[in-house]
Amino acid sequence: MSFVKDANKMNEKKVNEKIDDKIVDVAKIVDLAKRRGFIFPTSEIYGSSFAGFFDYGNYGALLKRNVEDSWIKFFVTRREDTVMMDGAIITNPNVWRASGHEQSFNDPLVECKKCHKRFRADALVEGALKISVDGLSKEQIQELISNHKIVCPDCKGEFTIIKMFNLMFKTHVGTAEDDKSLVYMRPETAQLIFTNFKQILLTSRKKLPFGIAQLGKAFRNEIAPRNFVFRSREFSQMELEYFINPKKIDDCPLLSKDHLDYEIDVLTEEMQDKNQNHKKMKIKELIKNKTIKTRWHAYWIVESLRWLEEIGIKKDNMRLRQHTKTELSHYSLETWDIEYNYSWGWKELVGIANRTDFDLKQHMNFSKSDLNYFDEEAKEKIVPHVIEPSFGLERVILTLLIDAYTEKKEKDETKVVLKINKKIAAVAAAVFPLMKKDGLDKKAKEIFDGLKQDFVCEYDEAGSIGKRYARADEAGTPVTLTVDYESLKNDSVTFRNRDDTRQIRVKTKDLRDVLQRFLNGEKLEKLGKLVK
Ligand code: GAP
Repeated sequence: MSFVKDANKMNEKKVNEKIDDKIVDVAKIVDLAKRRGFIFPTSEIYGSSFAGFFDYGNYGALLKRNVEDSWIKFFVTRREDTVMMDGAIITNPNVWRASGHEQSFNDPLVECKKCHKRFRADALVEGALKISVDGLSKEQIQELISNHKIVCPDCKGEFTIIKMFNLMFKTHVGTAEDDKSLVYMRPETAQLIFTNFKQILLTSRKKLPFGIAQLGKAFRNEIAPRNFVFRSREFSQMELEYFINPKKIDDCPLLSKDHLDYEIDVLTEEMQDKNQNHKKMKIKELIKNKTIKTRWHAYWIVESLRWLEEIGIKKDNMRLRQHTKTELSHYSLETWDIEYNYSWGWKELVGIANRTDFDLKQHMNFSKSDLNYFDEEAKEKIVPHVIEPSFGLERVILTLLIDAYTEKKEKDETKVVLKINKKIAAVAAAVFPLMKKDGLDKKAKEIFDGLKQDFVCEYDEAGSIGKRYARADEAGTPVTLTVDYESLKNDSVTFRNRDDTRQIRVKTKDLRDVLQRFLNGEKLEKLGKLVK
């Protein structure tokens, strides 16, 4: 079947699919993120045309830290079989020769012959035809541009044919700026794990199977940065390379009944070929019919989904999509994306790839170093295979904000309540005096000074109590503690739940314990008597 027919078919489907009005528009998140100091375009005092780079503000920097900590806990410190490392951003350029990035880390680019503006070809087609081109090859995208006579959206000029554009940022090391000093900013954190595999194997004394995790910056000169931080040019990755004896790739003792029974919306390659919609499937069905080819891969897919759920991303807004053969990265035998239902469509939040022994072998060939693992049992050298769950930190944060965003109407006003997971929220509790007088402020300050030793807290005495509640709700602060006149009599505060505004009264001596239990998930009504 011609790709154009395919595209028309997809087009029809898209038109018939009504946009779900429950999906939060990213514009609202951009507004909130800037207004409340989560994330905003970098150095805006010099204008906003410097696309693809962002700064974190007062709440964003704390939220980011909490997400990172949660990821490290889940994928490293709560386990026995993974360790961490932290590699350089600029490394020996041979790393990127060996990894294949110098040759293959490209996106399709077209240039307008009239105004010379450059576009990412796949994004251009998606915008012009209102279809998804995930999985189409360069040739297929070219065919769509030619057959649909897609022209420059700015000046209606004709496009050049697609050429491939390498996404790695280049810079120079040392005083001379020539080919010999050319280096790259790392486009993924993963390679440093492969180049250090033997080193970390020695110092950690781990045995297969085991993982090395890394969290840090990655840089890609994206042709079309878009959708806020979703596609940026500087971002952070949280990656785990899990090394497995290739003979035991299907022998995963950690794959439990719970993993096998895990159910989620799935879109396989075959379903994409047949233009079908995703449907609910259990992981065990995907293993049984060999759609997910190895049990270790299945295990890491479920673990990745579990972490996303643990930090509060709703399962109903996620699905699992298999990469088609044409879209597989040069290093991957099999990849599954966890996609999220964004206002611009289902798009990749996390990628979980089976990188086989590709990277270790490439680095052995290029560096002539021995990166083999000696298997004591079989008394032989082996090159481990790798399953890689790869998370983009900014995508996770953006998705958390989208998923937590709610609005409520109060009189004529629309108020935002950011119902973000209590454990991840930037600030755990805000302390208010009901009024800035009669010693209420002094007592509130004392309570704040005590709590801030153990919790990230804020003190706010500016404006009406209603305004202060609204500010805390918008920032996603799960608990607000108010010192009122009763507090002066019986040494207690009101303890208000962000999500439903219900309150209990808590003695100040019990505050630490009650706050901790509430943040850990205990119900408000179990922690005290509800008050009006
Ligand atoms: N090591 C494998 C790798 O880098 P990838 O699918 O290119 O695979 C992994 O990237 C994750 O990094 C993606 O799932 C996404 O969350 C994040 N990511 C990739 N490009 C990004 C960009 N331009 N802006 C923000 N996040 C990005």
